[in-house]
Amino acid sequence: MKRIQNLRVDYSGKILDLDNINKNPIDEFKKWFKEAQKKNILEPNAMTLSTVSPRGNINSRTVLLKGINNKGFIFYTNYESRKGNDINFNNTVSLVFLWKELEKQIIIKGNAKKISKKDSEKYFQSRPRSSRIAAWASNQSKILSYENELKDRFLEYEEKFRNKEIPLPDFWGGFLVEPKSIEFWIGRKSRMHDRISYTRNQKNWNIQKLYP
Ligand SMILES: Cc1cc2nc3c(=O)[nH]c(=O)nc-3n(C[C@H](O)[C@H](O)[C@H](O)COP(=O)(O)O)c2cc1C
Repeated sequence: MKRIQNLRVDYSGKILDLDNINKNPIDEFKKWFKEAQKKNILEPNAMTLSTVSPRGNINSRTVLLKGINNKGFIFYTNYESRKGNDINFNNTVSLVFLWKELEKQIIIKGNAKKISKKDSEKYFQSRPRSSRIAAWASNQSKILSYENELKDRFLEYEEKFRNKEIPLPDFWGGFLVEPKSIEFWIGRKSRMHDRISYTRNQKNWNIQKLYP
């Protein structure tokens, strides 16, 4: 077996052509995302979300992208979780997509804002019944008092909502990440990778290439 320091892949991606790239990075993202979906990679919508704690520590974890609109990127979570509390205090976040199979990475930096209750409700009600019950049962990021507490709470809520509609919990919903910058990275031969960075300039986007 190879030693870690000898694991090495020479990438083969194409050059990112500044003349043919979308002027809006959200359109460029959609194009890349479609390609990722076509390749059938597992959960191309999985992204690393980093937040800043009130003490200035960085917290990172994976969440799923569940929507894109012309304002930004939407994910859903428990608003009282660690990430929810971090965002409540400081809404500066970053999102990282790594699609290894495509030799591509996208980094989004911006501000997270709660979406409307109506939109959260619409998504919540589209989820399987068991996921809706689990949202009620999980005190996300809190400490369990005993091993089976989550299971017991699930059964409790299952009973409570038996033959009933499951309402959207007040503590659960979506965040929209409005990007201030988006960077596209593609792996190329001999570590000559290509990077294009979009940064928001009032209503337009500045587009620049960065050394890899
Ligand atoms: C592939 C994958 C997808 C996930 N998707 C979500 C998600 O969409 N929303 C969410 O709240 N947690 C999701 N999680 C769980 C989070 O990574 C994390 O454990 C949880 O949200 C608690 O994070 P926090 O304590 O930092 O708030 C996912 C985990 C994995 C591995």
